[in-house]
Amino acid sequence: MALYTEKVMDHFENPRNVGVIENADGIGEIGNPICGDIMKMYIKVEGDVITDIKFKTFGCGSAIASSSMATELIKGSTLDEALELTNKAVVEALDGLPARKVHCSVLAEEAIKAALIDYYNKSGREMPEKLKNFKPHEE
Ligand code: FES
Repeated sequence: MALYTEKVMDHFENPRNVGVIENADGIGEIGNPICGDIMKMYIKVEGDVITDIKFKTFGCGSAIASSSMATELIKGSTLDEALELTNKAVVEALDGLPARKVHCSVLAEEAIKAALIDYYNKSGREMPEKLKNFKPHEE
């Protein structure tokens, strides 16, 4: 059995939503101290909807595929829906990741949460409870 699913390979080779959003409404950056990979997410928000999202990932293929898939899942969704995105949902959408690579999908979940926190801080809107207690994993 191949180590990586077709979807992982596809999103690694043709990542969606790569780049930077100038004057983004929220920016989140998360790094994993063990592997050294870094992911940065930019979001554009109108009303309650994330109208645009882009990422830059300095990291492994699974991190790139996870960021790409996460942006696809989040684009056009509401802030509340984005808040509920779990790394598990990203892994499922990719049809799985090898166990040693699951932490790469955690970066995607956390980078989105960090971007949401930045958005709430900058916009002055009330931060949802879930984000108040957010702490990135330390693996
Ligand atoms: Fe660390 Fe993939 S090896 S994010």
